Formats: sequence, C-alpha cells, structure tokens
Amino acid sequence: MAGMTDTAFRRLVKRQGGCGLVVTEMVSAEGLIRGIDRTLEYAEYTEEERPIAIQIFGGDPEKMAAAAQIVEGMGADIVDVNMGCPVPKIAKHNAGCSLMREPSQAVGVIAAMSRAVQIPVTVKMRAGWNDDERNAPTLARMVEDAGAAAIAVHGRTAAQSYSGSADWDLVARIADTLTIPVFGSGDCIDARQVIEKLASGVEGVLVGRGVLRNPWILAQAADIAAGRRPREVTLEDRGTFLRQYIDLLGDERVREARPPAVNDHAPAISHDRWVINKIRALGSWYTKGLDNGSHLRTAINSAESLPALQAAIDTFFFAPVTSR
Ligand SMILES: Cc1cc2nc3c(=O)[nH]c(=O)nc-3n(C[C@H](O)[C@H](O)[C@H](O)COP(=O)(O)O)c2cc1C
Repeated sequence: MAGMTDTAFRRLVKRQGGCGLVVTEMVSAEGLIRGIDRTLEYAEYTEEERPIAIQIFGGDPEKMAAAAQIVEGMGADIVDVNMGCPVPKIAKHNAGCSLMREPSQAVGVIAAMSRAVQIPVTVKMRAGWNDDERNAPTLARMVEDAGAAAIAVHGRTAAQSYSGSADWDLVARIADTLTIPVFGSGDCIDARQVIEKLASGVEGVLVGRGVLRNPWILAQAADIAAGRRPREVTLEDRGTFLRQYIDLLGDERVREARPPAVNDHAPAISHDRWVINKIRALGSWYTKGLDNGSHLRTAINSAESLPALQAAIDTFFFAPVTSR
C-alpha cells in the first residue's frame, strides 16, 4: 500500500507469522527506467520478505516491459501491475485503474511484460471503473490470455474508491472462470473475515487496511485456519511493534540522510521528520478501534521530535492505565 507498506513494515508484519506473499508499494515504471532514487527506494526489499512482488504502475507497454526487466534484475519473485489505483494523478496517465478502461492497452502491457521477463507477471485490478463499466470479468480473461500468471481483484470500482463494500460475488465468479489463480481483496478487517473470504473459492486473499490496524491479523487468521484460538495481542505487543518499527526506520538513516540526488525532486527532509511522518501515517490506522485511540492519535500528531514521539508511545502503551 502506497505510503504505508515499506520494507520495514513488511518485515515486521511477516515476523508475526501467517503471511504468504508480500507486495511493495506501487512503484512508477517511468521512475524505475529513469533511475529516480526515491522510486528505487520504494522498490527495495530484504531477503526475509520473500516471496516478494514488486508492483509497478504505468500505461505504456514498452516502458512497462523495460520496468519489468529492471524489477527482474532487482531479484523480485513476481512483477505485479497496478490496474486498480483510482487516484487522478496516476489514473490520468493511462495507468492504475484507467488502464481498465482501455482493455487493448492493458492487454498490450501484459503481453509486452510477459515476453520481456521470466518471472511471473501478475495483475491487480478493481471491479471496474464505475458501475456502468464493471468489466473485471472480461478484462481478467483477456489478461490471462495475454500471459498474466495470477490476478487479484479488489471488488470495488474506481468510482467507489473505498466506499460501500467489496463485491466478493464478482470476485468469486472471476475465480470460477479463470484457469490462473485469482486472489480477492476488500474488507478483510479482522481475522475471521479473512477466513470467510478464503472460503469464497479464491486462491488467496489480500489484506490491506486490516494489517495497518492490526499487524497480527494474518497470524490470527493462520491460528483460526489451524483450529487454534486466534492469538491475543496485548497493549504491550502493540507498543513494542511501534518501537520496533521506529528502530527499523532508524536503520535506514544512512539512506534517507543522504543529500537529495539531482534527479530527485522530492523536498529534502530530516531523517527524524521522515520517521515522524511515517508513524503519523501509520498512526491514523493503527489507533482505530483501540481504547482511547484518539488520544494516542492526537499525541502522535502533536509530537514534533522523535524523543517526543517515543515518549507519547511509551506513555500510552507501557505506562499504568491511569496515565492514559
Ligand atoms: C493507503 C492505501 C494505499 C494503497 N496502495 C495500494 C497500492 O499501492 N497498490 C495496490 O494494488 N493497492 C493499494 N491499495 C488498495 C489495497 O491493496 C486494497 O485493495 C484495498 O484497500 C481493499 O482491501 P482492504 O479492505 O483489505 O483494505 C491501497 C489502499 C490504501 C488504503
């Protein structure tokens, strides 16, 4: 998930258990080809994350094929294509979900990529662009014929963004008609929903926001699948996760602290500020459903230094209940 599931976060989630495949944040094909530093950083991963898919976005078949070769050269196990992003900044460049509106272009992208690399090329799509264009069943078949090795479908349209609920009947219908594996995405917010959705006939489920709220959701789902009680997560566990995340982000100090490269247009910020921003972004999800979560959210959002942020986390998770 863009802005959220960086390598540090993915490693920590994987360490909790229950996680099969991890996928990077979406990465610009154009940025990979031009060697933009920040783009390359989004595509970074560590060995412990394997098997790993690097997800790329773009709309030009030749460029997507070239980017797929770069991804293959980086050692990824899978190259995934984003055909689901509804954000105008992405969609207006014929990338993300707008590729679903141009089926022949989408097919051209997958065919070119499949010819260019040995690793599997997979696709992540939505139900369609809007209610009048729910073409995922047709497009899924077309990209299968073009060489896609697996497909994941988020059962909402781009127009829905994240409103309403994901259409798992549609996902199940697609899974039923395709030969390649089909994964479903949408609304797996707790471990029981993951198990329910797995029973819908899909090969697997993708868990998005649920893992930002509860990084143990996959481990808990694995517990349920094995007939065990889902593990309990204490407040201390949750605090420890955040501390570890800050530590892992801290390990990236050297990388982030380097001066911006000439081809790097993102404004330079200090490493501490980068970590604070990361924790704020996660905090908006992580605090949901937590007793007094809004207090923690406010404390995180008002911490202007790393020590203040750490103190806010320590007070909330490790101090006696009365101080919360
Ligand atoms: C903050 C955020 C960032 C996301 N970024 C991506 C992305 O980069 N690539 C992608 O395929 N899907 C992305 N998604 C969509 C999720 O992968 C997923 O399909 C969607 O959130 C529905 O699943 P969920 O209900 O489990 O969250 C993102 C979702 C959110 C909330």
